[in-house]
Amino acid sequence: LWTMENFAQEQIEAIKEQVGDRRVLCALSGGVDSSVAATLVYKAIGDKLTCIFVDHGLLRKDEGDQVETIFKNRFNMNFIRVNCEDRFLEKLAGVSDPEKKRKIIGEEFIRVFEEESSKLNDIDFLLQGTIYPDVIESGTKNAAVIKSHHNVGGLPDDVDFELIEPLRNLFKDEVRAVGEELGLDHDLVWRQPFPGPGLAIRIIGDVTKEKLNILKEADYVFRDEIAKADLNEKIWQYFAVLPGNRSVGVMGDERTYDYTIGLRAVTSVDGMTSDWARIPFDVLESISNRIVNEVKHVNRIVYDITSKPPSTIEWE
Ligand code: XMP
Repeated sequence: LWTMENFAQEQIEAIKEQVGDRRVLCALSGGVDSSVAATLVYKAIGDKLTCIFVDHGLLRKDEGDQVETIFKNRFNMNFIRVNCEDRFLEKLAGVSDPEKKRKIIGEEFIRVFEEESSKLNDIDFLLQGTIYPDVIESGTKNAAVIKSHHNVGGLPDDVDFELIEPLRNLFKDEVRAVGEELGLDHDLVWRQPFPGPGLAIRIIGDVTKEKLNILKEADYVFRDEIAKADLNEKIWQYFAVLPGNRSVGVMGDERTYDYTIGLRAVTSVDGMTSDWARIPFDVLESISNRIVNEVKHVNRIVYDITSKPPSTIEWE
């Protein structure tokens, strides 16, 4: 009988058997796949698993801390967090081309991971959160490339480790079910898709620390209001974008010249096509009021009402 419980239990036994006394390394991103994979392997081999979490500073507000809390504090895993926001911001300085940004982030991620993993001894296995759709996708790379979809979890091919890919035969909803079975947080297991290059591709044009902070705050308010309106599991993806332009506004008696925030929220089945989410006007109103009141240097909010195609979900 194939159930999630059986699957998890069988995988745990198989991994125990395969790994024995040896050691496993994992690049944990905090996304659903790598989190479920890491938890599964942790249940099998405990402290013979080491996770490296490269925090590039382009995650959503508080997200890095949440990942650390779950895996380091609660599960008590061997967990190495590498804080390297400055390093990524330096590499990204002055770069405005979306594909260049993706490339820089993907490459820098690998470099950091290599540096950190070279400090560890006796690693035999590399754990990857590959799921079935990834396996299929990499077999059909001929489709026209719209976006390079650098997933920062992508690691170099030339490493000496043996691969462990316990989720290789699972679809996303099965991965989520295994995550729930393993006792991972509901919020994490049902997390909306989040691109590997993170907020860097939600800041149009060049990325600066100032823009990054504004976007994090605005996005935080947006998510908070969506959760309060109980819409978070009804919308495929919702996030704030910082287009980078400034426009004139008024605050009290003062003229302002500040940033615009774009709100993007879409319904979709697989991310290939999408429609804009019909968020009720009163919810949009609260979001808009809160962002302009709570986030400095924002004086205008717009809502993106384009479908994909002809748009894409992300703005870059
Ligand atoms: P688009 O913007 O192409 O996005 O309509 C479709 C889905 O893919 C995600 N996305 C990415 N994911 N690296 C990722 O890991 C990327 O570079 C990337 N670009 C887009 C996007 O969030 C949506 O879910």
